[in-house]
Amino acid sequence: MKTFNIALIPGDGIGPEVVAEGVKILKAIEEIDANISFSFTEFPWGCEYYLEHGKMMADDGIDKLKNFDAIYLGAVGYPGVPDHISLWDLLLQIRKQFDQYVNIRPITLLNDSLTPLKNRTGEDIDFLVIRENSEGEYAGAGDWLFKGKPEEVVLQTGVFSRKGTERIIRYAYEEASNSNRTLTSISKGNALNYSMVFWDEVFEEVGKEYPEVETYSYLVDAASLYFVTDPMRFEVVVTSNLFGDILTDIGAAITGGMGLATGANVNPEKEFPSMFEPVHGSAPDIAGKGIANPIAAIWSVSQMLDFFGEEKWGEIVLSTIKDLLKETEHLTPDLGGSFSTAEVGDRFVEKLRTYT
Ligand code: NAI
Ligand code: MG
Repeated sequence: MKTFNIALIPGDGIGPEVVAEGVKILKAIEEIDANISFSFTEFPWGCEYYLEHGKMMADDGIDKLKNFDAIYLGAVGYPGVPDHISLWDLLLQIRKQFDQYVNIRPITLLNDSLTPLKNRTGEDIDFLVIRENSEGEYAGAGDWLFKGKPEEVVLQTGVFSRKGTERIIRYAYEEASNSNRTLTSISKGNALNYSMVFWDEVFEEVGKEYPEVETYSYLVDAASLYFVTDPMRFEVVVTSNLFGDILTDIGAAITGGMGLATGANVNPEKEFPSMFEPVHGSAPDIAGKGIANPIAAIWSVSQMLDFFGEEKWGEIVLSTIKDLLKETEHLTPDLGGSFSTAEVGDRFVEKLRTYT
């Protein structure tokens, strides 16, 4: 019997609503499969915690999390607490302290009816974006000079270390090589004459170790266009933190929107726990109504199971999502259905049981 210890950070808004459904699915798997068990420990961190304690998480929060096999996070951020505080003091702390330098975002159309693109099917839209998750423009380097004065200047520095750039690019080559797919690097060497010229050089250098991988290199503006007009050309994509953030929202848009998009924050060496979360935020506009779509959070569960080496279950969860998406009436309102968040989770568990 394998036991996986999972730290839960449901967070704010719809975070707790969707995490509850993910946990429901894990508990169902545990019941069905006698060889797996999960233990859950919940942490009450987020904006409410901030309003009470003046901080987003406990002082020894990172220490408390470090021995878990994975962190399952809902969403953080809520009106009343500035977004840069909620993001930096919780989510980015975890990503940084645990060196979760790989962000894995599948851009896969699970049901043809969900894309706004004309005449595109699941065969056309099926790729993986590997986003650098530890530095770039999100390194927090910069300055704010002469605040409030006419000569005010702000600097936000992109940080691209050799170590950080090489390891994400190597991770992407490994992924492409192991799955026999092409690799596309997305950068902007024409305008960003230090960071992206360097990125392109490293992409070529590391590529020499992987002669079997067919590669492409696009500027980010052209790539944004291709995401919409010609998504077929992508199989595995590697890009920087900022570009990856923006491009994967386009990816979400062409595959059914925020209620479906998922992302894993991975420390490949498993020196620290990795974190699994839906891409969406706390959605204050629908929080508390019980109508948040839990599928993105459930897809995160599938990514988590893959990461645990339980690929069989990861695949079953993904197939069950595909199955569920065929029944519009059994989905939440954002996908045209009339089910509540919890009803979608219940229906999911019913379907899951039919696989066994
Ligand atoms: P958001 O993703 O929370 O919402 C954007 C739109 O998508 C809203 O109309 C919302 O109702 C809808 N939506 C999102 N998830 C949905 C779901 N599961 N089912 C149905 N509809 C869904 O982004 P927004 O409004 O920009 O941010 C709200 C708060 O969340 C902010 O405080 C922001 O900082 C935070 N945030 C946190 C993230 C995280 O924890 N990883 C990521 C993005 C935003
Ligand atoms: Mg984003």
